Amino acid sequence: MKKNLLDERLLACAEFVREKSVLADVGTDHAYLPVSLILDGKIERALACDINEKPLEKAKETAQKYDVFDKISFRLCDGLKGVFENEFSDLAIAGMGGEMIAKILENCPYIKCDKYNLILQPMTKANVLRKFLCENGFEIVDEKALKANSKIYTVINAKYSKNEQKCDLLFEYLGKLSEKGDENALAYKRKVKNSLLKKAKGILSADKENEFAKNLIKTAEKIKI
Ligand SMILES: C[S@@+](CC[C@H](N)C(=O)[O-])C[C@H]1O[C@@H](n2cnc3c(N)ncnc32)[C@H](O)[C@@H]1O
Repeated sequence: MKKNLLDERLLACAEFVREKSVLADVGTDHAYLPVSLILDGKIERALACDINEKPLEKAKETAQKYDVFDKISFRLCDGLKGVFENEFSDLAIAGMGGEMIAKILENCPYIKCDKYNLILQPMTKANVLRKFLCENGFEIVDEKALKANSKIYTVINAKYSKNEQKCDLLFEYLGKLSEKGDENALAYKRKVKNSLLKKAKGILSADKENEFAKNLIKTAEKIKI
């Protein structure tokens, strides 16, 4: 019994999970991602973590329904605070704001290690997350744009590389999607371009010489669609 547990967003996350890895799914809610990956045979075990009791109960119900309860360890915790560093190899944090995802990573010092494969799916403020990753030594290895519920999102695949970098504005807003030309990536670029121009216009209407706003316009002009 299964399937179609995953919508486009979680499907895109699932693609970045490595075969035979042990996945920690932080903010698991219904645990669709780990349950589906176990049912597909891509992974054998997972940790389903959530800060709230109700979602974790839902996670347990899903695991019971699909008969994979004994393959998942359930943790009621904030971020990775209830997980030891050797318990997993791949980490998914999906369906939260970019700032919250960055905070969860920041609060987990051991995640700064290249053995972890990070799959991060911000619902908002993807730019804040990209900037955090760059400035804290994480490399964005790949990104995929996707459409779900008529909205456009990104999934970021990252790993620790020690290389702390200044993040330029174009990379902050587009990351690896600047290299992509598929339909969803183009829609993402269009959205970013429009929002940068709108933001710049708002600032310039109050301060005609604002350098930051001029920079936003220059960045928007670099986005080729
Ligand atoms: C919108 S759901 C996302 C569920 C699933 N990951 C997805 O993408 O469909 C967000 C979940 O994250 C949990 N959450 C929020 N902050 C958290 C934190 N600091 N640590 C762990 N879980 C958290 C919430 O309780 C909620 O169940």
